Amino acid sequence: MPTKTIRKAVIPAAGLGTRFLPATKAVPKELLPIVDTPTIQYIVAEAVAAGVRDVILVCARGKESIVDHFDLAGELEAHLERTGKLELKQQMRDIARMAHIVTVRQQEPLGLGHAVLCAKDVVGDEPFVVMLGDDVIDAPIPGAKQLADCFGRHGLGTIALMEVPREDTHLYGIAAGSAVDDRTIRIDALVEKPRKDPPSNLAVIGRYVLPPSIFEILERVRPGVGGEIQLTDALAILAREEGLLGYRFQGERYDAGDRFGYLKANIMYALKRPELAGPLRAFLSGIK
Ligand code: UTP
Repeated sequence: MPTKTIRKAVIPAAGLGTRFLPATKAVPKELLPIVDTPTIQYIVAEAVAAGVRDVILVCARGKESIVDHFDLAGELEAHLERTGKLELKQQMRDIARMAHIVTVRQQEPLGLGHAVLCAKDVVGDEPFVVMLGDDVIDAPIPGAKQLADCFGRHGLGTIALMEVPREDTHLYGIAAGSAVDDRTIRIDALVEKPRKDPPSNLAVIGRYVLPPSIFEILERVRPGVGGEIQLTDALAILAREEGLLGYRFQGERYDAGDRFGYLKANIMYALKRPELAGPLRAFLSGIK
């Protein structure tokens, strides 16, 4: 019987991050901090909390520093030890021990679908979760775990959905289908950024638990908008051929790939820090 356990996460991180220029000219967008922690570290922590052991980073030229972040930093640790900052030293070590990180290269930015396909050989014949670093999910049960649990219950690929205002549907992939339970639908329509007549107000968010059959589908998908291989096109085929669920996850999602979303994430995560919450609230309420 095929496994229903999710042990591998694919994190596509080969995009150019043009919405964040000039910051992303030399620094990968995935390393931009939310408070003091790179966005990608929140994503890897979420993966680990969902039971993932192997994290497959899809990288590109110039993104090597993402991998360095998850490596041991001997000199830094020695310095922290010498200066008595033992807690910080342990934190640095814990980052390097979070997960087994594997990298694959996407040589050209040919789209999200293509980025996922680059991980095919490392994922092999088992279900896995795709996690976009742009979407930071703050939830009591980690977003990827909510999806992995839904996948475990039903044995079908499961993607995260979020209700958005009707007037914003043109900004997202939109899914519709028949209700399975109060949070789950079986998807029968999936439209990328509908200009008119959206089939619902349920937007696709950057977490997808997928069966390995998605790779064979991605191999046959033709390049779509902008010559890119779109994950959405492959998901629509998966929905038709095997079935695909959409799960309305519980929690807050921030689009950290967008400047306003990034600022909101910084404020909300800072408000969770006891040492920052009071001064930040006072500062914000004092702004004229
Ligand atoms: P985005 O389009 O949001 O990311 O793709 P981007 O291209 O980096 O950002 P902008 O729009 O230019 O600011 C969603 C995710 O897919 C990855 C990106 O790294 C991002 O995490 N991606 C996208 C790839 O890995 N390869 C691609 O060819 C395209």
